[in-house]
Amino acid sequence: MKKFPDNFKFGVATSAYQIEGAWNEDGKGESVWDNQCHTFPEKIADRTNGDIACDSYHKMDEDILNLKRLGVHFYRFSIAWTRIYPTGLPNVINQKGIDYYNLLIDKLIANNIEPLVTIYHWDLPQKLQEIGGWTNPIMADYFVSYARICFKSFGDRVKKWITINEPYQISEYGYSYPLFAPFYKFTGIGCYLAGHNVLLAHGKAYRMYEKEFKSKQGGKVGIVNEVAWTQTETGKKEDEEAAIRYRQMYFGWFVHPIFSKAGDYPPIMRERIDRLSKEQGFDYSRLPKFTPEEVEMLHGSSDFLGFNHYNTYLVKSEPYGQRPSVQHDRGVKNYVDESWIPTSAYDFRVTPWGLKNVLKWIKEEYGNPEVMVLENGYAGFANDPIEDFARIDFMKGYIGAVLDAILEGCNVTAYTVWSFMDNFEWSSGYSCRFGLFHVDFNDPKRKRTPKRSAYYYQNLIKTKMVTDIKPESFDHNL
Ligand code: BGC
Repeated sequence: MKKFPDNFKFGVATSAYQIEGAWNEDGKGESVWDNQCHTFPEKIADRTNGDIACDSYHKMDEDILNLKRLGVHFYRFSIAWTRIYPTGLPNVINQKGIDYYNLLIDKLIANNIEPLVTIYHWDLPQKLQEIGGWTNPIMADYFVSYARICFKSFGDRVKKWITINEPYQISEYGYSYPLFAPFYKFTGIGCYLAGHNVLLAHGKAYRMYEKEFKSKQGGKVGIVNEVAWTQTETGKKEDEEAAIRYRQMYFGWFVHPIFSKAGDYPPIMRERIDRLSKEQGFDYSRLPKFTPEEVEMLHGSSDFLGFNHYNTYLVKSEPYGQRPSVQHDRGVKNYVDESWIPTSAYDFRVTPWGLKNVLKWIKEEYGNPEVMVLENGYAGFANDPIEDFARIDFMKGYIGAVLDAILEGCNVTAYTVWSFMDNFEWSSGYSCRFGLFHVDFNDPKRKRTPKRSAYYYQNLIKTKMVTDIKPESFDHNL
């Protein structure tokens, strides 16, 4: 039987807005998600919000017990900026917010679970949104200030940090194609402005850690991007090129500046957006430019390559999307094969080979860096069953694909299930469930119940093998 290396780590992930609730308790300020869900409930499929969510803010001990039962090596969670700085700015510090995360971190460590902390997972302080959010270049410095208090308060115990989760989704879905807060619609413009500032925020925070904390704390700092696998149906040269172009102008947009040999945006992205901007009557490129100092600052600014993975797309080289837009700039039509096993999210099909191909591509493209899979999971429906065999099949396929990639030389050190428990799935509300634990959102106590996949994951972590065994309960003799 094939086995994961002894030092390979397994974990589960969540994020603050999706699980914590307590949206206005103990001095927490308002975030963009609080604001948008309250003001425009129609933007969320089931008109819900994260006011209570899984109520994890009040259920720390139960959550930790469940993590312990699972046997995970690490727990990836995020800090809510507005619990620490209620307005987003450092002149008002909320000690109760710091106390909450201190307690969580201490309890995790006492239970032998490593905290892997995301500093920013989409819940921007509303006050900062009112001055333009991520389209305002000052945000990079504001983020550094917020990151500094996180490193200062928690860095004696937290040794793995993620600055920012999924720059692409923040930029494209927040500022161009309105799927996520702040739901701006400014295609082909907002995304590149936001993306540029998100990258600078990450780079500056990384360098700040390096200068002010690294020698004392010795932690690792990285960024997490989402990567989709792309393949063609035709095998034609122009479509194969489109598959690469899509990856470069999606994942490469945020990874090339940090991990490529040359740094900066991918040349294909620079060339196309500069050219198309001109053709469209702009007298500047819609893609901002880094100064040489910024290129240098960003280059190498991540101690590991972290990514989330949910999609495989079929692609064709074809004029696509409105002008201007990211889709049109890429010139790639992406779609899915309807015969691939569906989930509750239309384009999240079950395609485990995509993960293996992504890992092999990253190895070649970026010189085999240390890679951590920091999210991957099965999207169930609102009535996702406790006997979630479809999720177990998904896990067998995807975790097996990671193992195969390792056996073929990919330097992967961690895998993370999204998600620890059912939670607020952004614009889909509670209609889409990813949890290993079921959460009853009608119960004021938010009862958690392990699904069969939780038992499966426990066994997988214990044996480090991907098997057909489907245990019926937790093994409590751990
Ligand atoms: C995000 C999570 C989200 C998950 C499933 C990722 O893009 O980081 O917050 O719940 O995908 O859609």
